[in-house]
Amino acid sequence: MTWEELENECRNCHKCPLGDTRTNCVFGTGSREAELMFVGEAPGEQEDLSGTPFVGRAGQLLDKFLEAVDIPREKVYIANILKCRPPQNRDPLPAEEDACIDYLREQVRLIRPKVIVCLGRVSAMRLIKPDFRITKEHGQWFKKGDFLMTAVYHPAYLLRDPRKKEDMLVDMRRLREKLDEAT
Ligand code: URA
Repeated sequence: MTWEELENECRNCHKCPLGDTRTNCVFGTGSREAELMFVGEAPGEQEDLSGTPFVGRAGQLLDKFLEAVDIPREKVYIANILKCRPPQNRDPLPAEEDACIDYLREQVRLIRPKVIVCLGRVSAMRLIKPDFRITKEHGQWFKKGDFLMTAVYHPAYLLRDPRKKEDMLVDMRRLREKLDEAT
């Protein structure tokens, strides 16, 4: 499948009820040649309105951490497990993830990144392992097939608990090192 076919299919998707309530499908953004891919949970309000992932307050915080470790946002690819916003930003339902996950799978297949970073628990549980514990296992590294994977705190969580920002910086610095080793 080509990028164009994939994006068209996603933008017209009604495989789950979120297709009826979205303003925009939030497909993904960034470099299609990225070595590094970030995967969040689902679009929030600002993302739904703009069609771009991580542009609200959480996204701005993510930008700060990227800047802090010298990773230009335009060099990475950023997507979510769900492409449409769940009402009131509730957690994605398993059925919604199941309906949507093939879009992400295809994005990964087309990009073939070396490193995949899960942003938060929901993404880590889906992509690394179902019993992933974000407080215990953030910053740990996993080799999965061709990919090196890790999970860091979701930036929205850091907004609620700023004390965790120190851990986040440590994880992001390690990511920078891993990236330098892997590329
Ligand atoms: N939170 C996410 O998980 N993804 C976004 O795109 C925005 C906020």
